[in-house]
Parts: sequence; C-alpha cells; structure tokens
Amino acid sequence: MKTKSLIAIGTFSFLMFGCAHQMDQDAKVEERIDALLKQMTLEEKIGQMYQLHSNGNVADYKELIKAGKIGSFLNEINPTTINELQRIAMEESRLKIPILFARDVIHGFKTIFPIPLGQAATWNPLIVEEGGRVAAVEATEVGIRWTFAPMLDVTRDPRWGRIAESLGEDPYLASVLGAAMVKGFQGDDLSEPTSMAACMKHYAGYGFVEGGRDYNTTIIPEVVLREVVLPPFKAAVDAGVATAMSSFNEINGVPSTGNSFLLKKVLRDEWNFKGFVVSDWASVAEMIVHGYCADEKEAAMKAVNAGLDMEMVSPLFSKHLDSLVKEGKVSIKTIDEAVRNILRVKFKLGLFDNPYVKIPQTSKIYADSHLAAAKEAAIQSAVLLKNENHVLPLTEKVKTIAIIGPLADAPSDQLGTWVLDGDKNYTQTPLKAIQAEYGKKLNIIYEQTLGYSRDINTTNFGKAVAAARRADVVLMFLGEESILSGEARCRADINLPGVQSQLVEEVKKAGKPIVLIIMAGRPLTIEKEVNLSDAVLYAWHPGTMGGPAIADLLFGKAVPSGKLPVTFPKTVGQIPIYYNHKNTGRPPHENLQLIGSIPPGAKQLTMGYVSYYLDAGAEPLFPFGYGLSYTTFEYSNLQLSKTDLKKKDEITISCQLKNTGKYEADEIVQLYIRDRVGSLTRPVKELKGFQRIHLKPQESKTVSFTLKTDDLAFWNAELKKVVEPGDFDVWIGPNSKDGLKGSFRVTE
Ligand code: NOJ
Repeated sequence: MKTKSLIAIGTFSFLMFGCAHQMDQDAKVEERIDALLKQMTLEEKIGQMYQLHSNGNVADYKELIKAGKIGSFLNEINPTTINELQRIAMEESRLKIPILFARDVIHGFKTIFPIPLGQAATWNPLIVEEGGRVAAVEATEVGIRWTFAPMLDVTRDPRWGRIAESLGEDPYLASVLGAAMVKGFQGDDLSEPTSMAACMKHYAGYGFVEGGRDYNTTIIPEVVLREVVLPPFKAAVDAGVATAMSSFNEINGVPSTGNSFLLKKVLRDEWNFKGFVVSDWASVAEMIVHGYCADEKEAAMKAVNAGLDMEMVSPLFSKHLDSLVKEGKVSIKTIDEAVRNILRVKFKLGLFDNPYVKIPQTSKIYADSHLAAAKEAAIQSAVLLKNENHVLPLTEKVKTIAIIGPLADAPSDQLGTWVLDGDKNYTQTPLKAIQAEYGKKLNIIYEQTLGYSRDINTTNFGKAVAAARRADVVLMFLGEESILSGEARCRADINLPGVQSQLVEEVKKAGKPIVLIIMAGRPLTIEKEVNLSDAVLYAWHPGTMGGPAIADLLFGKAVPSGKLPVTFPKTVGQIPIYYNHKNTGRPPHENLQLIGSIPPGAKQLTMGYVSYYLDAGAEPLFPFGYGLSYTTFEYSNLQLSKTDLKKKDEITISCQLKNTGKYEADEIVQLYIRDRVGSLTRPVKELKGFQRIHLKPQESKTVSFTLKTDDLAFWNAELKKVVEPGDFDVWIGPNSKDGLKGSFRVTE
C-alpha cells in the first residue's frame, strides 16, 4: 500500500513538475515572441505571413529574405539550397528569423507507405504513427520541417479523387488514426531535428464537395459539421498538431479561407488551438473567383480578419496588408496575433536555435527498418473481400500460376497519389516479389496484357486466356493507375477503367480459379468482377513494399486483416452510401422487389413503398468495417457491465472472441452503438471503439470496451453536445453489418 502511494505521489509530482516545466518553457517562448514583435516593422510582420513556392534559384529570393519578406517556402527539397536560403535569413536579415520549409509528405517521403485510405484499412494507430515517423525521419534529413498532412477530410464519396488521401468515412476512425499520424510526424518533441510539424487539412468540409467533384461547393448543416466533419480536426488539436490548412471549398456560402466561424470561433475559442493556419494554394485569391470578394485587397482583408495566419503562394497579404492596416481595415492586433502564431511554431520546432539541416553521415532514407515498416503497413492494409473454396492462401498443390494485368509490375502506379519524392526504382512490385521468392518452386507465366489500367487494346487477350489455361490459379492485378485518384482526379464512373472488366470475363473462360488483386485509390464498383472471381484482395495503392506484402498474403506467410474504412457501393448511383446513415421513416426490408421482377403492367399499388433503388437495392457491395481472414473468428457471450446507467456512469461491454480456424491472425473487433430515439434523429449505427486482437488457432480472448456516457453525446438543435436519456443498442462485431447485439438504458 505504502509503496504504491509513494509511487503515486512520485508520479504525480513528476507530472506536476513536467507540466510546470512545460508552462515555464511556453512562457519563455511567449516572451521571446514579445521581444521580437516589438522590434518588427509592419513589413517584416507581413513577411512572416507569406509562404512561397521555391523554384530552387536562391538569387531570386535573396533580397526578399534579407528584407524579412518570406516566412516559409514550400517545395524546396535540396538541403544545400535550404541551408543557403536559411543562411541569408539568419545572417543577412535584420531580425534573423528562420524560414520554415514545407512539403507535401503525405504517405512517406522516399519510402512510400500505402495511401492514407489504405493505412486507414489497417485500423491500427501504431502502424499509422510509424508511417508518420518514418516519413518525418526521411524528410527532415533534407530539411523539410513541416508537412501538409494529415488530411482529415471525412468523405462519403468515392468519386472524389482525394478519398485516397483520406482516412475514410467515419469520424471516429479518422480521429484515432489522424491523431496517430500527427504523433508520428511530430514525434515526442517538436524541437528534435527529426520532428516535422504536421498540418491538419483541409479545414473544413472539403470531403463533402457536391457530387464528389473536387473544389466544389459544400452545404453542411452545423450539426453535421460538428458531428461528422470536425471531430478528426478536434482530435488532431488535442494531439498537439502544430498547424492547420484552410480548405479550398466554400461552406454554406463562405469559403473556408475567409471563414471566421471555423478559424476563430471553433478553432481558437472552442478548441484553444495554439498553432497557425495556412491557406491552401492560392485559396485567398480564389475567394474572388468564388464570388466572395470583389478584388485582391478585399480577399486579403477578409482572410486575415477571419483568422488566417499565413498565405500560401498567392501574394495578396504581402501586397495589401500594409495599406489595409494603415487604412484601419485590419488591426495591428490581428497581424500581431497571426505573427505570434507563426513564430510560436518556429520556436517550438527549435528553428531559432538550430536553423540548418545537418546532412547525416548515414542516411536513413530507404533504411531496411523503413522498408520493413512500409511492408507491414501494406500487409495490414490489404482487405480480403472474398475467398471462395479457400483459394487463398495458395498451397503447395499450385504448381503453375498465371500473373495477368497492368498492375502486377507497375512500380510507379502502386505508389499511389501524392508521391512527390518516392523513387519508383525502389518499388518492389508483386511480379518481381513473387518471381524472386517463388520463381524456383513455381512455374510463373506473366502476361501484362494491358499496358496500363485505361488501355483499351484487346490484342493480347488471347495470350492472357492461354496463360490462364496452363495455370492452376490465375492472379489478376487490376485497378487504377495512380494518376486517377488524388487532387482534381474525380471520376463520375468508378468502375475498373479501360477493358479490364472484359479481360476478367475472357480469362474466366479458361475455367481456372481467379484471384483478383485490386490496386486503387478509391472503392471501385466491382460487383461483376467480384462475382466472376474466386478471391478478391483489395490492396489500395500499397506503396514501395506492396509487392512483397502482397506476395506474403497470397502465399500465406501473412494473413489478411484489413477492414474497409469506407463503404463499397455496388454502383455509382448509390452514392452517397455510408454505414452511419439515418433510418428514414421507410427503411428497406429484406425482400425488396428489384427491377427485373416487376411484372409488365404492374399497378401502382402492387409494390412496397420503402427507401431503396429498384436497380441496386439498398445494400452496398461491402459494408464499412468489412474484411475476411484466412481463419475464422467466433464472437460469443456479449456482456454488459450494467444495463441501467446514470448520466455520469461508465459501461463496459465485452465479448469472447475465438479463433476457430487454422491460422494465427489478427481480427479487428468493432464496437457500435445506436441511440434509438433523439431530439434529433440519430444514425442507425455509430462506431465507438475498435481493437486489433491477435489470436492463435483455437485461442480465445475477452475483448472489452469501456464507454463513458459522454461518448454517447451528440449535438442537438441548440448546438449543445448532450447525452439524452433513453435506450441504446450496442453491437460488438466484425463489421458494421454483423455482430452481437445488446442494449442498455441511460437515465438522468
Ligand atoms: C493543394 C492541396 O489541396 C493541398 O492539399 C496541398 O497541401 C497544397 N496544394 C500544397 O501542395
């Protein structure tokens, strides 16, 4: 007892000391900022608020830097140039304020991890954090101390190309993983030379662009904004994210870049964010195009007064803030606040004391440990969607395999979108990995058949079918090239591009088991192809180590464990389709009458009147959270610690999970709730917890989740977050569709 309390006192005083120490440090930083602000001219202050795209030519910027007119550069990655630009700032400018160098390091710098949507399919914050860490270690080696990631835009639209950069459709999953990414990029201490300031983007609502068309308008009621869009950003702020980026879109008529509700009320007043906000690329100037500002000067005024601290690329701040201040349209207090926010991050990064890049003696770029982490991430991100007759994993009975398709050996495409620096020469493709590992044991026939995913040349179809006939199993690597997803890469049809679908139909004629391995930046509508194949492994764009990861999965050295972070529609017309929808007054039932079964001349009143599509039903192709394994898991014995809760109570919900199959494997156990009745209607399910559980064959574990009543709260019509008394359903299960169900009641 005594020892325990001594330890407790020790821990407490350590925490208190740690806290006091941090407060002390923070106060010192603010003092240093005060001192600087006192010395800075208005011009120098405005200079800090300007971020420029570097063209690599130092001479072009020398005078500007000397005059203190550049706060940050993006896209300079040559360490020698970075050091020279920094030297000018540190030695030749009046106040010696360091420059902050930024880059889009989204899912890796050189060692490329799976696209963020793929990382989200791991449901593993540790993997995601490690991905951020590896990216930071590599990028800081050349002097990048600020990345424009994580992208936290929850989205329900796979047509939107940037879904690839997202963490999926669920606010809770995106919150947990986004916070992990922030931790990974920033490390434990931002001033460490291998730490990189993170930037949560795109704040906010960008994932809700109408029709999934990039840069489009968004209309988002405040309750939806607060409940679905904002939580991942709040989680990132709580995780200490250093910066934020305002989004391109307008939201209910006001562009985010000039949106004081977002930038001031929510971010500063409610969340107490201490970092700075940068615009997206020229998004200040784009407020004119939006029709929100008449000219450049008004755009600069509205952005800064709304709470934007730094302008990316367009020079409206540098051109107009000076006269706006002199005319009294922008207060000096506003400018000082913005500069303070920027300088605070520069101080926290330790740039004032250590401004230069030190090129390490041994580079960590493409280090073995980084490649191993990227491989593990790719393994855990792959989602097994179908595996009929246990086609996978491939066994020793398989002597000849046919490898077919444009993505089996596509080193650049498997890296995915937003790969500015990853070198395709380091990519390990599935073809090369399988040949290297199994080339001696197996007869491998390779037919690329199509040059790239959109290729419509069917000349080689015959060869593909012939290869399939000779094989015991056919591995078809299909999907999308990397250029088809990402920024401004939206698609109105999200099928397999080109003639890949016809290729599956042709190969099917050979009568051999078909395994589809899909690499893509988004969910694709692949119902037909899934039906034609025996197994489907969804690998997203898996990054540098995608090949060995997929090889391990196909041959059973690793067991698939990924689960979908986003709903897969059957057809594009079902979009938006997402698991946490509302029930409607006419929810669909099991026996829907589909278009083919309506008798000709059917009378108006002969059919049901529920919410569904005649030609697509109501169900998606695969639900959120879905994913198979080579083993099987049994969920049993749901237990609730209580069924009546008072408003401040906690509840523990648990079940038994057993590995009933033959493979040692991970299962992602998911916890969902439903608030049956609310003063505003509630979704049919909401994810509230998940755990990745590792089990040996026949092993069982109790999996428990604890919920506080606060976890049941929602935003009501008065925009207050409340827990309303009433009945709740709860599920623990393998996806958003299935699971063990219980219920409990909350009373005042
Ligand atoms: C525009 C993109 O929307 C944003 O995500 C990115 O960080 C910036 N450009 C900088 O490249």
